Amino acid sequence: MSVLKGKKILLGITAGIAAYKTASLVRLFIKLDAEVKVIMTPASKDFITPLTLSTLSKNPVHSTFYSKEDENELWNNHVDLGLWADYMVIAPATANTLSKMANGTCNNLLLATYLSAKCPVYIAPAMDLDMYKHGSTKASLDKLQAYGNAIIPATSGELASGLVGEGRMAEPEDIVAFLKNDILEKLPLKGKKLLLTAGPTYEAIDPVRFIGNHSSGKMGFAIAMAAANLGAEVFLIAGPSHQKIKHSLVHRIDVVSAEEMYIQAHKYFKNVDIAILSAAVADYKPKNIASQKIKKKDTTLDIALEPTKDILASLGAIKKNQYLVGFALETNNELENAKSKLKRKNLDAIILNSLQDKGAGFATDTNKITIIDDSLNEKSFPLKSKKEVAKDIIAEIVLKVK
Ligand code: CTP
Repeated sequence: MSVLKGKKILLGITAGIAAYKTASLVRLFIKLDAEVKVIMTPASKDFITPLTLSTLSKNPVHSTFYSKEDENELWNNHVDLGLWADYMVIAPATANTLSKMANGTCNNLLLATYLSAKCPVYIAPAMDLDMYKHGSTKASLDKLQAYGNAIIPATSGELASGLVGEGRMAEPEDIVAFLKNDILEKLPLKGKKLLLTAGPTYEAIDPVRFIGNHSSGKMGFAIAMAAANLGAEVFLIAGPSHQKIKHSLVHRIDVVSAEEMYIQAHKYFKNVDIAILSAAVADYKPKNIASQKIKKKDTTLDIALEPTKDILASLGAIKKNQYLVGFALETNNELENAKSKLKRKNLDAIILNSLQDKGAGFATDTNKITIIDDSLNEKSFPLKSKKEVAKDIIAEIVLKVK
């Protein structure tokens, strides 16, 4: 999945011949499932039409604060546009626009939006070679970089003037690649390794029967995805579950029983920074597994059970620098029980879901959680989809491990 999927990209186009390439740029962003809005400087409309860009971006294109022709048209609010964007890309950026941006001039919609934007801004300069080499252009670029903007360097080649040299706007594919790499590099969990247990465990009674539970694994798989989306390498130890997951940073290790989950969790724990144990591990397993299928009889059948190993507690006992998070599913005295579990199992945080809350718990698509940290601070969240809950959990952990 691309880091740009679902992201809102505001493309600012200024008056350079390379503006014709922005049709491809918009198309590439759309193909990656990003949302695109375009703002143009008035002069850039001589190089590419707003109709082309609005058709490709599936959004209206703005170049003025309001339209003089249409008195019913609303003010194009530069503050809203700036806040809407996850990323702003200014391509091509002419020497004139670079200079205005560097000095805080805002005499058009694009410049006013740039000054209002709070998101990362990427600038792809394009101009003739002598303009690009000029001290004042270099000074503008240095200043813009110092303000925290990312500059996508111009490349060398034949320019519109016929001269050959540096000043060509980076190709649309290279602009997209630059954004993707930069975003991946800056992800808050980049370089972190995370161990996650998810789903139920099945404890065999005989070759065809088992003791299990109704856990679907949805919560754990959503956490795996949320963590990977923020750059973590995830080792997902999954009990039997129909959930599917596809992400280059997620390694899925399938297990069946609590014992197998214990072995795999211990194998990975030493090398991770974070461990989240969301699995609904069976607390008991049959003492003996019958080697043949147990035959039906008219008498009652007693199966002797023995406790499984508590994976979470065993990791709490050996943890060094790992940030260890457990789950608590409680039906009564929820907060008290969760806090005592946190201390007993030597955790850094515990996530409580109460079975008393409607929509929380097993096999639902929603969950309602309270996160308690090791200082016993509580943070309660409203009922949300498990995907949103997963994002909340990972966002809290990011704050602790950064
Ligand atoms: N857990 C575990 N290994 C077990 C049992 C539980 O790793 N054998 C983990 C779960 O993944 C969860 C946490 O322990 O993160 C809490 O599980 P829960 O069943 O709520 O608590 P228990 O410790 O089993 O205590 P109780 O059943 O008394 O509530």
